[in-house]
Amino acid sequence: MSLLNKKLCLKLFLGLTLVISIGGCGNYEEFKEDPSTLFSRVAPAQGLTFSEIKSQVLTPKCIRCHPGYEDYQTVINSIDSITAQVRSDRMPKDGPMAAELKGLLFSWIAAGSPQGDVIPVKPSPRDELAPNYESIAKNILGKKCVVCHNPQGQVPFLDFSTRESIWKKRKLLFNFDKPENSYLIEVIQDPVEPMPPMNSPFEQLNQEEIDVLKEWIGLGLP
Ligand code: HEC
Ligand code: HEC
Repeated sequence: MSLLNKKLCLKLFLGLTLVISIGGCGNYEEFKEDPSTLFSRVAPAQGLTFSEIKSQVLTPKCIRCHPGYEDYQTVINSIDSITAQVRSDRMPKDGPMAAELKGLLFSWIAAGSPQGDVIPVKPSPRDELAPNYESIAKNILGKKCVVCHNPQGQVPFLDFSTRESIWKKRKLLFNFDKPENSYLIEVIQDPVEPMPPMNSPFEQLNQEEIDVLKEWIGLGLP
């Protein structure tokens, strides 16, 4: 079912006092269980903007492990997956969210996940894949590594969430003279146990990303 369809279904469902038939609403059927716990205590969705959702839900509950959620477009691209993960309490990883917060998030999603009244920003240099920390952190580490490699994550001893924590591990991870021989590069290309792990939902690095990482290492991690 398309995203639009789901949203329509959910909106329709929210608008109904009597649920006559929501058979056509696919996954959202679960809401039938007890919608009051999800929706009763939340403000009408009209006014909700991305920045409010970010400050009330994503920042306290997700961004520590999913730094990519700072970015509206990244959230929108994963909105189906986010809905599924939060609804089933698989996320946040460190324990379910209060019903109020879930309700807030789902109200915003049901309203079409609007960005709201933000001032359009011009594309920052961080958006382009380039051999500098800002770009690598945003486009590679933040999207595919920090989710596990952070102080509260699965791999706290190999923290990729700050420049300092990466620099501290430089002897283990990098070969500045021969970037292609860096441990980090070997690990992400390991045929048996690559990073991100095969069984995780994160895609392996593509050739362009690997090349930029090597270039970044060769330059001494600028
Ligand atoms: C303590 C770290 C942590 C927190 C907090 C956390 N996650 Fe996750 N998340 C993970 C990890 C690790 C995975 C990888 C799959 C797994 O291990 O279950 C993941 C996977 C996901 C996925 C599936 C993969 C993807 O990127 O599409 C989604 C969606 C997701 N999380 C959403 C959220 C949302 C929304 C929140 C906040 C409400 C959140 N997570 C909070 C650690 C976290
Ligand atoms: C879904 C969680 C997850 C993601 C995402 C992830 N890692 Fe890992 N990583 C692990 C775990 C767990 C270990 C430690 C266990 C192991 O060695 O197999 C590890 C270990 C490592 C190691 C040390 C390997 C060793 O065994 O000595 C490196 C280097 C590494 N990861 C790099 C990365 C990089 C770079 C990324 C992103 C491109 C990444 N990881 C993404 C979970 C993850």
